[in-house]
Amino acid sequence: MQVTYYGHSSFMVEVGAHKLLFDPFITPNELAADIAISTINPDYILLSHGHADHVADAAAIQQQSGATIIANFEVATWYNNQGITLTHPMNHGGQHAFPFGTVKYVNAVHSSSMPDGSYGGQPGGFIVSTEEGAFYYAGDTALTMDMQLFGRTALSFAFLPIGDNFTMGVDDAVTAAGMLKCNRIIGMHYDTFPPITIDHDEARRKFRNAEAELMLLSIGETKTM
Ligand code: NI
Ligand code: MN
Repeated sequence: MQVTYYGHSSFMVEVGAHKLLFDPFITPNELAADIAISTINPDYILLSHGHADHVADAAAIQQQSGATIIANFEVATWYNNQGITLTHPMNHGGQHAFPFGTVKYVNAVHSSSMPDGSYGGQPGGFIVSTEEGAFYYAGDTALTMDMQLFGRTALSFAFLPIGDNFTMGVDDAVTAAGMLKCNRIIGMHYDTFPPITIDHDEARRKFRNAEAELMLLSIGETKTM
């Protein structure tokens, strides 16, 4: 799988010929000023919850690409009400087979409202299982015992928030990696805003001390996982 970072919690994951975009927040993110969303053409857009720092560019990218939005029922319905019909609604614990593999929508401990303030359902994360391996995309979440359950899937890697304040921070993310039985972690939801700025070296060291690797991608960087 190829993983490209677009800043904050947004990544493109390429599985074979399929392109999965997660939580696009690019045009409002000054750190991602070099990324032109006109070049981003996913087949699927997976949204973990309705907050603007996760969905800001979803409608524009959906319209230029014809991608299917995968999200919880309320987030999917909000897009339907704006005329975007290519959505696949899910809810917690549900799994569905797509052409690239299966997606399970799993619990996150957070909140969810849409950019206009309307109800955004319950926030979640995704466990994506493909022929090239499985990964977990946590979305915004606190550390939660549910991660022990997610670790029943053999995960090649996991995307975890590490910025603290709005989500778990580095120390809890190290614990999460242990519960997930996953030692390859891609950090997200850090440095974008002042309250979530982190010390990169210290964060990497804390993961190393737990025999795990924390990968902090540069915005625009692509990594083979
Ligand atoms: Ni959020
Ligand atoms: Mn967020």
